[in-house]
Amino acid sequence: MHSITAEADSLRDAGMVGHHQELVSQIEHLREQRAECLQSSIRRSASRIKPSAVRLGPSSSSLWDVAAVAAELKREHCCVIDDFVGADEAAPLREHLGSMRSSGALKPGEVSAGLQQQRRGDLMAWVSTEAGAQAPPLRALLHSIDRLVGALGQQPLVADDLGPQRMLCRHEMQVTCYPGNGARYVKHVDDPHGSRGRVLTLIAYSNPRWEPGHGGALRLHVPSGARDVEPRDRRLVLFWSDARAPHEVLPAHRERYAVSVWFSDAQAVAAGAASK
Ligand code: OGA
Ligand code: MN
Repeated sequence: MHSITAEADSLRDAGMVGHHQELVSQIEHLREQRAECLQSSIRRSASRIKPSAVRLGPSSSSLWDVAAVAAELKREHCCVIDDFVGADEAAPLREHLGSMRSSGALKPGEVSAGLQQQRRGDLMAWVSTEAGAQAPPLRALLHSIDRLVGALGQQPLVADDLGPQRMLCRHEMQVTCYPGNGARYVKHVDDPHGSRGRVLTLIAYSNPRWEPGHGGALRLHVPSGARDVEPRDRRLVLFWSDARAPHEVLPAHRERYAVSVWFSDAQAVAAGAASK
């Protein structure tokens, strides 16, 4: 793209105005194509979210009480769902995350080097949000999350944030491991200025036999005060990504695994990508 622009400029400078205009319209056409391509990939990812009865995972017959989740999200800006990961899905997920760590795929988090250890002591990897590109344990988790978010979108209480008028896309996914040396993540908001378009954060934990003495709770600062959520196996926590839900990870004294997924406003994502 850049070289075409430079070529157009040099043709104009050389007085070849006709060619210049032709190249400029070619550039405009390419830009439109790029925007359309981005939009359609967002539409594809949005259409995967199918509103339907949401189950507690394939091995369970009980239904989510989606209305209760919506009410809790509205009132408390967060909600904890236990046994979200199916009983038969937990071990493969744990194994998969462990193998990501032992293969060296997880790297120190993103904050700049000096600050890093104090602010955020986890190891992490961004992974593709394309369910089809995932290993089966992550794919299964993404499908359950999609069903939940799709069903929440039908709930009037949270319609302003998650309803159909707001085109949401599953945009980012991260695997994290706090190595257990007292690593923590200081208080923060996931998208403080709304610049990343993040709307909802969902985090699934994969830590069998977690005990309070291991620390590592997610502390959410919500309307009722500070609320500590232990990173128990098969548990999902969801909260707003904006300033309604500041949170931190308290020092973890045992290996602590989590998978985080962000749902974002598709228009904000497209606008951010187009300005890059
Ligand atoms: C994050 C985060 C919380 C957790 O990665 O932004 O806040 O419980 N994680 O892992
Ligand atoms: Mn966070």
